[in-house]
Amino acid sequence: MKRICIIGISGKLGQYMTEHALARGYEVVGVCRPESVDKLERFKGRITIIPGRTNDREVIARAVQGCDGVLTVLAPWGTENYASGTAQAVLDFADPGARLIFSCGWHISRDGKDRYSWKLKAFVAVFGKIARALRLVDLNDQVEATNRIFGSERLWTVVRGSDLEEGESEGLPVWSRHVGDPVLASNLTRRTDFALFMVHALTDDRLIREAPAIVGRNTASARAHPQAAQSVPA
Ligand SMILES: NC(=O)c1ccc[n+]([C@@H]2O[C@H](COP(=O)([O-])OP(=O)(O)OC[C@H]3O[C@@H](n4cnc5c(N)ncnc54)[C@H](OP(=O)(O)O)[C@@H]3O)[C@@H](O)[C@H]2O)c1
Repeated sequence: MKRICIIGISGKLGQYMTEHALARGYEVVGVCRPESVDKLERFKGRITIIPGRTNDREVIARAVQGCDGVLTVLAPWGTENYASGTAQAVLDFADPGARLIFSCGWHISRDGKDRYSWKLKAFVAVFGKIARALRLVDLNDQVEATNRIFGSERLWTVVRGSDLEEGESEGLPVWSRHVGDPVLASNLTRRTDFALFMVHALTDDRLIREAPAIVGRNTASARAHPQAAQSVPA
């Protein structure tokens, strides 16, 4: 892994991923909306920025060229297929052997075997409807995006994040295949560690075509179920 691309680099997750990637000595190319380029001032001279919307196919084709890995923040913004357009462009244009890592939340299910709390179901139902009615966010399009990824022959990993909090790193999160597994019950991960897991996945072949649901390694549920937690080497 020498050169990687981060799609959606200017957000919180994107910036944490940039820190972890630079710490590993990777060359970083990033795509973000033109109005967000200033958010990356502290990385000036250390990364290459390609301004553009992440569902702009021409921008993505240029950005991912020659990259060994692509980290994509799947953001369900707007109602114009932003997430699915972004995912499709990455799937279409990334180099054939590239590792493709995508972020989303626990509400995404790969095989329908996740067991959700009533709170998460209610949140997705109510927030999803209101946000779509206001044309702000389309959670269904994030579902469409991940369905396209799950159906692809590419070397993908879809990392499903729990609720997030800020704070110092606690190390790599642990993961399980299904939301509802007791090891995930604490439903909390440090945002920097979500990013750490995304960057780690680039070089962990055991995560190819997996959709790990993650939780912080120091949470009560992770500590209570060490056998059930899927760990990745630090
Ligand atoms: N927040 C949570 O609690 C949570 C929980 C689980 C999983 N996740 C997943 O984590 C990822 C990022 O979450 P985050 O909370 O950490 O947010 P974030 O890193 O701040 O990312 C938000 C992304 O959306 C972009 N964005 C914001 N407004 C936009 C707009 N109107 N149009 C287009 N793009 C826009 C941002 O780009 P700009 O810099 O240009 O604004 C940024 O790339 C997502 O895949 C999400 O599904 C989040």
